[in-house]
Amino acid sequence: MARFITHFQSAIDPSIELPADQLQTMHDNRPLWSRYDLDGVAGAMSKSVLAARRPDMWRYRELLPVGDEIEPVSLNKFMSPMIKCSRLAEQSGVRHLWIKDESQLPTCSFKCRGLSLAVTMARHFGQTRIAMASNGNAGGAMAMYAARGGIESVCFMPHDTPVANRSECYFAGAKLFETNGLIDQSGKRIREGHDRGLWFDISTLKEPYRLEGKKTMGLELAEQFDWKLPDVILYPTGGGTALIAMWKAFKELEEMGFLESQTMPRMYAVQSDGCCPLVTAFDNGDRFAKRHENACTIASGIRVPTALGDFMVLDTLRESGGAALAVEESRLREWQKTVASAEGVMICPEAATCIGALEKLLAEKVIDPKERIVIINTAAAQKYFGDAPQVPFIDLSEPTDWAAFEAEHF
Ligand SMILES: Cc1ncc(COP(=O)(O)O)c(C=O)c1O
Repeated sequence: MARFITHFQSAIDPSIELPADQLQTMHDNRPLWSRYDLDGVAGAMSKSVLAARRPDMWRYRELLPVGDEIEPVSLNKFMSPMIKCSRLAEQSGVRHLWIKDESQLPTCSFKCRGLSLAVTMARHFGQTRIAMASNGNAGGAMAMYAARGGIESVCFMPHDTPVANRSECYFAGAKLFETNGLIDQSGKRIREGHDRGLWFDISTLKEPYRLEGKKTMGLELAEQFDWKLPDVILYPTGGGTALIAMWKAFKELEEMGFLESQTMPRMYAVQSDGCCPLVTAFDNGDRFAKRHENACTIASGIRVPTALGDFMVLDTLRESGGAALAVEESRLREWQKTVASAEGVMICPEAATCIGALEKLLAEKVIDPKERIVIINTAAAQKYFGDAPQVPFIDLSEPTDWAAFEAEHF
């Protein structure tokens, strides 16, 4: 198979192009886009060719920066399901609602996609130690894919990162360090280590490959909808990589003539009001966001006070006709319960923001109840369990007073 990637392009200055056959990071501290010969891709990756391929992210390999000579570091042969949620739709007052459930991927979050590709490319270009600053799920996925690929990994995480994420690093043999700051602050230290040649930095958007891996979420979504894209996508946004990546996927498919829908989805970046720098920037009409001081949310994946790709997210929202919006931190658990009790799907606290966003956008009549809406469940809620929920106690040393029991609980 030929490689269809032609070059990398600066996300801030399109006139700057870098070669695709060398390991790339950023240009002038700004992220890079991967660019492809899309006519060539359309010729090689027809819909019927795709239909015969294995159901994993490598089915879209012509739209990834890999060719035959690059062996993927992979753990799955699986596409994440698109779950139709009719009861939740009815409760919410809409007709068509789906959850794309990324919790069912190998490390129980959507981070598998980007890390599978980032580790593949770093290893291909001879890197033996990779590192990142992470809020949890990315660090866990890096640790697992690095172990799978036989290279070392190093992660800086805030000290209050969920136990599951820290355990992933521990079990996979990653060198894990806890910090007393947030992801943007750790990110600067990881960069210093990179500049010293201690490791290769694969933090969010600091190399161009993770973005391309995450793009497969958008490609998969389009294929699952028979190339007729939904009207609305609600995405819990921290650094915003997957939102940017999905939009890139849709634009590339449009240019390849793959799409059968007349319109593109409106993309909504949803944040908690405990950390919403992109919402502030969107509302102010700014292209770059200011740091959200004292960021605080239980949805650790979206506790991102400054995002390197802020302008890429904000450009995407405006181009797609969507918006950034913040919802109440205090209601995240309630929204998790709403979905689990209606559909049996446990969504993570990050994705719970999207239920609040749906409520808000419907109330403001920004979403029409007839529209086709997709929520991305970015990770398994089970990764966040710490304290057990409070429930009534049964003392088995005493007989049960069934009449009292029934009266109290039913
Ligand atoms: C569960 C979860 N949801 C959402 C996000 C935000 O991802 P993005 O960087 O694409 O905004 C993260 C990132 O850590 C995450 O772990």
